[in-house]
Amino acid sequence: MPIHEIRHPLIRHKLGLMRKADLSTKNFREMSQEVAALLTYEATKDLPLEPTVVQGWCGHINVEKIAGKKVTVVPILRAGIGMLDGVLTLIPGAKVSAVGIARNEETLQAQTYLERLADSLDQRLALIVDPMLATGGSMVATIDMLKKAGANNIRALVLVAAPEGIKAVETQHPDVHIYTASIDSHLNDDGYIIPGLGDAGDRIFGTR
Ligand code: URA
Repeated sequence: MPIHEIRHPLIRHKLGLMRKADLSTKNFREMSQEVAALLTYEATKDLPLEPTVVQGWCGHINVEKIAGKKVTVVPILRAGIGMLDGVLTLIPGAKVSAVGIARNEETLQAQTYLERLADSLDQRLALIVDPMLATGGSMVATIDMLKKAGANNIRALVLVAAPEGIKAVETQHPDVHIYTASIDSHLNDDGYIIPGLGDAGDRIFGTR
């Protein structure tokens, strides 16, 4: 199944707090990063390892390290920035590929305004971060862009996913696994996830 709803107690608890409308910007921002880190832990469970030898306190020790070119984190601006540090906490050496996709509020269509991608995308796991998978338009456009640039190992981390967005990604990119803290009920007529979190970008940045 390309959709993974991670029902870890820490995630359930933090997401429950994030749903409170009166949660402060500071707390919402911190919890976005914390849940992102917990999703990262799950989404990287099968990263390939290779053996290596280190000089330990009692001589040479056989250990393991992550194989290959490793990871690029792909925050979809603006709200994806709110999950970036959470991923980097666990994968500090990851390259960051910034993607700017704005949703046209009338048509709800995705429009690209920034594309600054890491090199050697064909050798990296790309972890896209965006708090809300709503219609899926931004996510599908980002995956299209990454694949065009050579990426072939892509996963998406989202705090909350709507069935409509999951379906859009699954239909157009069935190879992309989605990791989320919650699959919510539906989208309302304005394109917001119900019950959702409201406007995640505004809540992370403290804007209205
Ligand atoms: N973007 C958000 O920030 N919230 C939603 O519910 C949908 C899209």
